[in-house]
This record gives sequence, structure tokens and C-alpha cells, in this order.
Amino acid sequence: MTNENFKNKIICGDCLEVMRGFEASCVDLVVTSPPYNLKNSTGNGMKDGRGGKWANAALQNGYEGYDDAMPYEDYCAWQRDCLNEMIRLLKDDGAIFYNHKWRVQNGLLQDRHEILEGFPVRQIIIWKRSGGINFNAGYFLPTYEVIYMIAKPKFKLADKANRIGDVWEIKQESKNPHPAPYPEELTDRIISSTNAKIILDPFAGSGTTGVSAKKFGREYILIEKSKEYCKMIEARLEGSEWNARETGEENSQYSLW
Ligand SMILES: C[S@@+](CC[C@H](N)C(=O)[O-])C[C@H]1O[C@@H](n2cnc3c(N)ncnc32)[C@H](O)[C@@H]1O
Repeated sequence: MTNENFKNKIICGDCLEVMRGFEASCVDLVVTSPPYNLKNSTGNGMKDGRGGKWANAALQNGYEGYDDAMPYEDYCAWQRDCLNEMIRLLKDDGAIFYNHKWRVQNGLLQDRHEILEGFPVRQIIIWKRSGGINFNAGYFLPTYEVIYMIAKPKFKLADKANRIGDVWEIKQESKNPHPAPYPEELTDRIISSTNAKIILDPFAGSGTTGVSAKKFGREYILIEKSKEYCKMIEARLEGSEWNARETGEENSQYSLW
């Protein structure tokens, strides 16, 4: 399948299956945040110090249609398969901005090397979010995530973007009803720091990557498994309110894979 059919489109389906249907070397940039497998945790993940779960944690129930709780080995193997596909789709001057979270599991740092080993990680950016509410008296409030810049050899940043440091203080998004959205400022910064023309987000969620791509006059390909979130993206890219479209599936413009 040529990517021409999917430029500036939302594709509703499993990203691995969809990406496997694309021709090689068809995108300049991938900006993505996969599910973190947060429900599979030995301790501090989604639990609170009172023995229960975070009552108000948006991700308490995972995503719509996806519970985010795979055995860790399966999760890593799946993410490696996804990254291999992203690398195949990337032109030889392209890069992937892959957002993830470090955590401590069984007393050791889980820095996601099981996922990233062998991929050309060039730099790790720290995304420092603002605070929140911490119900757990045993832990300081977690306020950072990481963004792996995985770059093909010819990748270069846009003019002057190398002046930006590698710690980004950007407030998390609070109005978006998706349980784990990017703040627009984050995707704006990534996209405007590159000269990419075609940008892929295989875990598109509420479509923030598409919103920023559009803002900077770039083209996007968005893949998202949940029909509900696909409708949310459609409405958002059309400039409507957050609510998913009221229209039925037959009236939706996203492509079913
Ligand atoms: C962390 S969220 C992405 C949020 C996004 N960055 C935003 O700004 O809204 C991960 C998304 O991946 C989706 N997802 C999970 N498994 C998927 C799969 N196999 N294929 C495509 N999307 C999937 C989930 O439904 C969820 O919306």
C-alpha cells in the first residue's frame, strides 16, 4: 500500500498490521507515545499508599479497548516489533521520537533497554512535567518522562534547533479527555525542530501529533486502534470540541484497516 492513500488521514486499526502494509521509506519522522504497560507493575505504578489504586488516575482502567497490562517480555517484544516497522518506514534521514517512562521494578531501574537495545538511540530528552497530586507518602511525586531520539545516520535537526537543551519543561495536558495525551507544546517542539514533511504517529490517541503537524504545514499519518479515539481525533482536527463525533460510524471519515 502506498502511503499516498493515507496522507492526512486517520487509520483505525492495529498499528503493527497497518504499518506492515506500507511501503518502506515513506515517512520523515515518527512522533509517538505507546501504551506504557503501566498496569503491569510490581509496586508504585498505579497503586496508592492506602492499599488501593489511584482513585482518580486517568489510566486506572487502561485505554478504551486496551487494558495496558501485558506480561513484560511480551510487551517488550511487541514494542520491538513496532519499532522495527517504524525504522523500515523511515527515510534514511529520518528519526523517531519515542516517548516512554522509566520506573523502578524489583529494586532495579527499568530503563526500557529491553525494548531499545540495538536501535540507533542518539539522544535521550527528559520531559519535565509539572506536579500533580501524590497520595502515596512513600514516594516523591514523579514528574518526568523520557523521549528517545532514535535517528537514522543522515538525520539532522532544523536550523538552530540544536540550541534547545535536552531537558524540556512542558506542562502536561489537563483539558484533553484522552487518559494519556501529549501536550501540544511537546509535539510542536519536536515537529518544529525538524524539517520533516510526512509525520507518522502509530499510537495516535487523541491525535496531538496530527494537530501539530497541521499547524506547521506538515503532512500526517495517524494510526489508532480505538474507534472512540479515532472519532475524537477527527473532531479535533476539524476544529470541533473535544467530544467524539456524535455521528455514526458510517458518517466517519477515518479509514478502517
Ligand atoms: C499513550 S496513548 C497516545 C496518546 C497520544 N500521544 C495523544 O496525544 O493523545 C497510546 C494510544 O495507543 C493506542 N493503542 C494501543 N494499542 C494499539 C495498537 N495495537 N495499535 C494502535 N493503537 C494502539 C491506545 O488506544 C492509546 O490511545
